[in-house]
Amino acid sequence: MRELLQVKGLTKTFQLSAKQQKLEKTKEKVRVAVDHLSFTAYEGEIFGLLGPNGAGKTTTLRMLATLIRPDSGDALVDGASVVNQPDQVRGRIGFLTSELKLEDCFTPNYLFRFFSDLHKVDPDVRDRRKDALFARFGIDRFAEVKVANLSTGMKQKVSLVVSIVHDPDIIIFDEPTNGLDVLTAKVVTDFLQQLRDEGKTIIVSTHIFSLIEKLCDRVGVIVGGKMIVCDTLDRICGDMSLEDRFFEIYKEIHPTYHQATVTCNCGNTFVTGSTSEDIHVEICSKCHPFYTGQQKAAQARGRVDKFNKKYGMGK
Ligand SMILES: Nc1ncnc2c1ncn2[C@@H]1O[C@H](COP(=O)(O)OP(=O)(O)OP(=O)(O)O)[C@@H](O)[C@H]1O
Ligand SMILES: [Mg+2]
Repeated sequence: MRELLQVKGLTKTFQLSAKQQKLEKTKEKVRVAVDHLSFTAYEGEIFGLLGPNGAGKTTTLRMLATLIRPDSGDALVDGASVVNQPDQVRGRIGFLTSELKLEDCFTPNYLFRFFSDLHKVDPDVRDRRKDALFARFGIDRFAEVKVANLSTGMKQKVSLVVSIVHDPDIIIFDEPTNGLDVLTAKVVTDFLQQLRDEGKTIIVSTHIFSLIEKLCDRVGVIVGGKMIVCDTLDRICGDMSLEDRFFEIYKEIHPTYHQATVTCNCGNTFVTGSTSEDIHVEICSKCHPFYTGQQKAAQARGRVDKFNKKYGMGK
């Protein structure tokens, strides 16, 4: 099997701003986001990076996509170095993150042409590719609709399609199903499997166990910026589910990790986990400031009924 991606000791640190230190209640000035990370992905496989929030998945993928430079280490993308040959790397990969925001004022037709021109795709090839991809994702009916007027799922499909205008051999996808409903998520995962079957190499990051189990041939578990284990699912899990195996691995690294059932002041009971001795979380997601903020915004817009329905309140 050909090694299409070789990651060798990638390391990235960030300086934490005073605001970030305050927000995260930490005195550390430097955060090691990715710590001497190494792994290999082969031609024709889906490789999954699995890790909890803040594990360093996005930072790793951004380095592979040449959006940020590693402090040390390197990665070879089909032989091209992300440090020394970033232009060549960009021509060989398609990179997509759910945080990517398409400009509201452009149409799918315009965006496809724009990104094709950036990659110097021949116009005939471009048009054939566009017709096939737009038909595959049902974008054809919206080809002249501005991004601002597209649904979230359709925006994500357009983002996916424009990230592969140049038919790259390696597709890097950060949280591929984030924010998508089950139908759109299935369209995306089916497509990734089809690309794999055509011989492409796909790298995805996620914290969703079921996505890894469904999609990936091999998985790298990353915690605190370090690769903890990297192998096929069978070899990592044996008879266990990936979720059970992950917590087993996590507890080996953080022996104090435990879960507890907590009751919020509102009476809602929920399960949470912590590495500190006592679990101090006492607030459920519905009472979380984000939720409260959404509630206030809904009140201000006179949309309380819609809000109550969405969060199962007011019954
Ligand atoms: N630009 C930055 N400045 C400072 N710290 C950063 C920056 N980007 C990432 N970090 C920190 O680096 C760590 C790794 O972040 P990263 O976004 O790579 O994690 P992740 O595994 O993608 O998490 P998530 O599942 O939440 O997306 C986190 O502690 C994060 O706060
Ligand atoms: Mg991330």
